[in-house]
Amino acid sequence: MILLENISKIYNHSSVALKNVNLKVEPKEFVTLVGTSGSGKTTMLKLLTREEDPTEGKIFLDGIDITDLPRSQLHHVRRRLGTVFQDYKLLPAQTAYENVAFAMEAAGRTDEEIQEDVPQSLDLVGLSDKINNFPHQLSGGEKQRVAIARSLVNRPDVILADEPTGNLDPINTWEIIKLLQKINDLGTTIILATHDKEIINNIDKRVIVLEKGEIISDKANGKYLV
Ligand SMILES: Nc1ncnc2c1ncn2[C@@H]1O[C@H](COP(=O)(O)OP(=O)(O)O)[C@@H](O)[C@H]1O
Ligand SMILES: [Mg+2]
Repeated sequence: MILLENISKIYNHSSVALKNVNLKVEPKEFVTLVGTSGSGKTTMLKLLTREEDPTEGKIFLDGIDITDLPRSQLHHVRRRLGTVFQDYKLLPAQTAYENVAFAMEAAGRTDEEIQEDVPQSLDLVGLSDKINNFPHQLSGGEKQRVAIARSLVNRPDVILADEPTGNLDPINTWEIIKLLQKINDLGTTIILATHDKEIINNIDKRVIVLEKGEIISDKANGKYLV
């Protein structure tokens, strides 16, 4: 379970990104985080991975207070959180296989585990036939599938997806959203940040609306009407 308690984030003593945010996300939930650009979505995800530290408040992951966890301990937290970004963040000189394998190497997994799990993860996202392609030999949707396979390969409890369809056309957008739903059905918590009203209004999931750093609405099966 993820718990944010009275979280505020102020950048550079002036730029208020989050204001007194309280949020609880249960295991296996699919949560969408919406709001216009600058509303604080990315900041909220960066606080969960401790890429940024809150100015005030506490962050708990499965009951453990990670707010002040020392840098040396952060790999324990980060291994439980998979991340997916708008710009994929793939290594351009590495194949799909190598990009996914890299995440396992970084986590200290054995060669045997890597050889078994990488093809499995790429199969789950439907890319078995492109395993040896380099990023420039893949479409945008396929690149995002590789990134999702990479985020999954260490079996995280939660996937944090920050505008994962921001660079995709509507058809690929839906393929990626359906894939995230499938991963959620298999038991992984999903937090999807997006400003795309079409997605929100069509997936029938919990919707949290951020406006200027504050949660202004939080509804199960919500719509985004702002
Ligand atoms: N590193 C930073 N330094 C200063 N201000 C920042 C930084 N990152 C984000 N902000 C500000 O925090 C607010 C929220 O930004 P962000 O979390 O990126 O929103 P969103 O992802 O919803 O577009 C914005 O006003 C933005 O300008
Ligand atoms: Mg953002």
